[in-house]
Amino acid sequence: MTERQAVITGAGQGLGRAIALRFAAAGIKPLLVGRAESKLRAVADEIAALGIEAGIHALDLTNDAELAELGAALKGETVDMLVNCAGDWLIALAQDTSNDQLDHILRVNLRAPYIVSRTLLPNLRRSDNASIINIGSIVTALSVPTVTAYTAAKVGLKGLTGSLAAELRPERIRVVMISPGPADTPMRAAASPGIDKSTLVSPETIAAMAHAVISLPPGITTGDFTLHSMLFEPPD
Ligand SMILES: NC(=O)c1ccc[n+]([C@@H]2O[C@H](COP(=O)([O-])OP(=O)(O)OC[C@H]3O[C@@H](n4cnc5c(N)ncnc54)[C@H](OP(=O)(O)O)[C@@H]3O)[C@@H](O)[C@H]2O)c1
Repeated sequence: MTERQAVITGAGQGLGRAIALRFAAAGIKPLLVGRAESKLRAVADEIAALGIEAGIHALDLTNDAELAELGAALKGETVDMLVNCAGDWLIALAQDTSNDQLDHILRVNLRAPYIVSRTLLPNLRRSDNASIINIGSIVTALSVPTVTAYTAAKVGLKGLTGSLAAELRPERIRVVMISPGPADTPMRAAASPGIDKSTLVSPETIAAMAHAVISLPPGITTGDFTLHSMLFEPPD
């Protein structure tokens, strides 16, 4: 059987790392994409222990030239799964958010998944069971203050997911968004220091859901879904 290949952005830590490890445990070869090459190498070393040789591709997802290089590096290859997981956060009131901050959050969380998905379409079309998974956030389902730019980006990503799913349905390429609630990752530790860990969902649980989506039979898809701890209570 040919080895299936997954491209996972934000794979150097947090949810992207967990998804890469889960996929590798299922025999899928991940291409680890992220900013810090050292982090990607560390994850590739963990994956090597599972007997899978992961690729690494360091880039800044806000840099169009580097995004084009990713497409060039994968030219002619089959990609069975793309997981747009990389993201950045900002906690600030709308009134305090600068244009540059807004642009950055939109670029990483919305524009990059759009461009990476479009760039890798020829690769995904080579697969007989292709998936695009976009990692959203619970903010697509409930509105909370101080994350207006992030929410705008993630709700935009939800719209992109739905429209792209409709466009690609005739080609049997599924496009699904998984929207986690607070998860136990370095991002959450930085954004919510001291948070009660029982209110967090584990990266491994989210990775298992991603694996369930990509394990669906050809021609079958699912709706977008949220995934969160039942102890999570949204702030007022
Ligand atoms: N953690 C949560 O509570 C939570 C909840 C809901 C949704 N999410 C979403 O889940 C996804 C993963 O979050 P996480 O918690 O795992 O975050 P994380 O621990 O901060 O990891 C994010 C990853 O994205 C990469 N990244 C960020 N900006 C990048 C850029 N410009 N170019 C390339 N790579 C970039 C980072 O790479 P470097 O480390 O190399 O910079 C990092 O590996 C994000 O989309 C986030 O919005 C997280």
